[in-house]
Amino acid sequence: MKYSNFYSVFVKLLILQSLAVVVRCDYDFFYFVQQWPGSYCDTSQGCCYPTTGKPASDFGIHGLWPNNDDGSYPSNCDPNNPFDPSQIQDLLSSLQAEWPSLSCPSSDGTSFWTHEWDKHGTCSESVLDEHDYFAAALALKSQANLLQALENAGINPNGSFYALSDIDNAIEQATGNKNYGYVSCNTDDYGNGQLYQVYICVDHSGQNFINCPTNGVTDQNCPSSVEFPSF
Ligand SMILES: *[C@@H]1O[C@H](CO)[C@@H](O)[C@H](O)[C@H]1NC(C)=O
Repeated sequence: MKYSNFYSVFVKLLILQSLAVVVRCDYDFFYFVQQWPGSYCDTSQGCCYPTTGKPASDFGIHGLWPNNDDGSYPSNCDPNNPFDPSQIQDLLSSLQAEWPSLSCPSSDGTSFWTHEWDKHGTCSESVLDEHDYFAAALALKSQANLLQALENAGINPNGSFYALSDIDNAIEQATGNKNYGYVSCNTDDYGNGQLYQVYICVDHSGQNFINCPTNGVTDQNCPSSVEFPSF
């Protein structure tokens, strides 16, 4: 019968396609990436506060990114599973507080979360569905409590400069891992390197900090003395 022929070809194509996705989008661990809003904004490009208001003076989540031990990473793994706001309704106020968008023009964060889910989250959807993916990132943020760890080490966001090695030590303490990941710096209008993003390695389940499996990734673009701007 014509219809069943068509149907069986269609099903075979679907199976082939899903196999291809599984192969292409395997991953070994996650980078959990947080950003300091003071450094995001303190550049020549500047920033725009979210429509929901100025975020707290705290690290914000950038993303939870599947990564491979060899340094490569999968992206945009499943166009058939785009970001669906209805699945994260119960997390909305937490996401607005902990995962704010500072890009211009101002937004309520939805476009940021859409990008992160579509590009990165779909690559670990076999382990974390959309709701669990965002919930996992929120849990990791409070688990690390990065700002508190830095402040405990006397590293305050007040525009002073701090030794990169002291920053690394404080993050090691917070995560319990010597090779926790790395920090990246950006540059303000005066050419000062400032603490911008912190990459923390997380296991395949998205729940536990680990010693990073990647070798040779060191702190990026950071001078030995790093500014920690206020926000
Ligand atoms: C910032 O905080 C540090 C640590 O408490 C302190 O030593 C430093 O003097 C402060 N810097 C400014 C500019 O207030």
